[in-house]
Formats: sequence, C-alpha cells, structure tokens
Amino acid sequence: MQLKDSVIIVTGGGQGLGRAMAEYLAGRGARLALVDLDQQRLDEAVAACKSAGGDARSYICNVANEDQVSNMVSQVAGDFGTINGLINNAGILRDGLLLKVRDGEIQKMPLNQWQSVIDVNLTGVFLCTREVAAKMVELQSKGLIINISSISRAGNMGQSNYSAAKAGVAAMTVVWAKELARYGIRVAGIAPGFIETEMTASMKPEALEKMTAGIPLRRMGKPEEIAHSAAYLFENDYYSGRILELDGGLRL
Ligand SMILES: NC(=O)c1ccc[n+]([C@@H]2O[C@H](COP(=O)([O-])OP(=O)(O)OC[C@H]3O[C@@H](n4cnc5c(N)ncnc54)[C@H](O)[C@@H]3O)[C@@H](O)[C@H]2O)c1
Repeated sequence: MQLKDSVIIVTGGGQGLGRAMAEYLAGRGARLALVDLDQQRLDEAVAACKSAGGDARSYICNVANEDQVSNMVSQVAGDFGTINGLINNAGILRDGLLLKVRDGEIQKMPLNQWQSVIDVNLTGVFLCTREVAAKMVELQSKGLIINISSISRAGNMGQSNYSAAKAGVAAMTVVWAKELARYGIRVAGIAPGFIETEMTASMKPEALEKMTAGIPLRRMGKPEEIAHSAAYLFENDYYSGRILELDGGLRL
C-alpha cells in the first residue's frame, strides 16, 4: 500500500505515540484524521503534520462513545472522500493491584478503575474498527487497521485492567485479519515495550528505572521508532493478523 495520499485515522493523535505516528506518516504524504479529546493538543498535532508535508484535520471524539465514533467516521469520510487506514492508538492507564492489604484491611480495586480502562482500551478499539471497517466496505476502499497493543498483554503486575485490554486487542487483531481479508482490509498490531511519552512520564521514577534496567538494549524506545514500524506495516501488503513486538528485547 502506498502511503502517499492515503487517508489514515489516528486515535489519540493529539500527543505521544499517536502524534509521532501521524507526523511520520504525514512526512510520507499521507492525509491524516487526528482523533482526540483536547482541541488545543489536536491543533498543535495538525500543524505538525502539515509542516511534515501531509494534509491533516482534527476530530474531537471519545473512542469509547458509540455515537461519537459513528459520527466521527462519517465526518472523516465526508471530508476526505475515502478512508484507507486506522490506527487504534488512544489509550489510558489506571494502574493498581487487584488487592492491597493495609493494617489488616483488604482494599479492592474499584470496579470503575477496571471499567474505565476496558471502555477506552478495548471497547474503543472495537467501536472504531467496526465503524471504520463498515465505512471502508461501503466505499470499497482497501487498506490497513493497526491496533496498538502492549508488552503488558502478557500480564504485568498492577495492570489487571490494562493487561486484559491489551491481550484482548491482540486477539481481536487475529480475528479481524481473518474476517476482513475478503474485503481487502488487513489488520495488524504493534506491541510496544516502554516508550518515551507522556504516558510513561507519569509512571513512578523508581518503577521506570527498574524497568529500563531490565531492557536488553538498556533504554526506552522512541516514539519515532514505533512510527517507523507503523509505516512498514502500511507498506508491506503481506503483513496481517500478527503483532509486531517493539520492546528492545524486554520480556515481562
Ligand atoms: N508509551 C508507552 O510506553 C506505551 C507502551 C505500550 C503501549 N502503549 C500504548 O500506546 C498508545 C499511546 O500511548 P502514549 O504513550 O502515546 O499515551 P499518551 O497518554 O501520551 O497519549 C494517549 C492519547 O490518547 C488520548 N485519549 C485517551 N482517551 C481517549 C478517548 N477516550 N478518546 C480519544 N482519545 C483518547 C489522550 O488524550 C492522549 O492524547 C496507548 O494505547 C498505550 O496503551 C504505550
């Protein structure tokens, strides 16, 4: 698939990996639809994509809201005339242990802490993929859907919600690659290790230091390195149904 003039939706495109992928793809001539919750961040990301050389527009949309996702996809198709790709990148962290015992008292992870991550990181991916795939079939356009999973899909301490969602995203990648191939839609995943973004900057410094020490390459990944992989997945028409692991050799 040619990146030049391809229309690609990037959720969570306002900052971090989403913005880095959008800028990189814009540099290859792609046309970007950036989806996020904050207009100011989106404006900055759109400007960055344009100065990288690609067209870009912004869309305020909560990926966990069915109506908003459906409206956003219709708007993007109307604005650009087609859709050739989607990167399901929007995600949140709400880490915590399933149980904590303090002074003999058992504290449990609240249901809303579990549910908020499942809503955005799992249901959001389902909703965006369903709506984009349906629109691509309707418009008879071919292309690629990338799901951003995580090394945490293997099961990371303190991340019941996040690990479950990212494992689900990896499994859905395989399912959808099988189901959507007949329409000319490939589906692939990227499972980053620890990458330098606002998300990891919010982790406790001790936890970050411990994590970096365990990475064989002894450093965190850079957002541009994830973006480079996303471009590869678009351009390689035989890549589908698999998760590309980009983690410097780290195993959880
Ligand atoms: N940074 C890492 O080390 C790392 C590692 C593995 C996986 N990931 C995954 O990569 C993706 C991007 O991570 P990041 O580090 O860039 O995070 P980030 O927090 O820097 O950016 C995430 C973006 O998603 C947006 N977002 C959050 N909830 C949303 C919603 N409901 N609707 C629309 N937009 C929403 C946020 O506003 C933000 O702009 C996430 O799915 C994350 O789980 C990141």
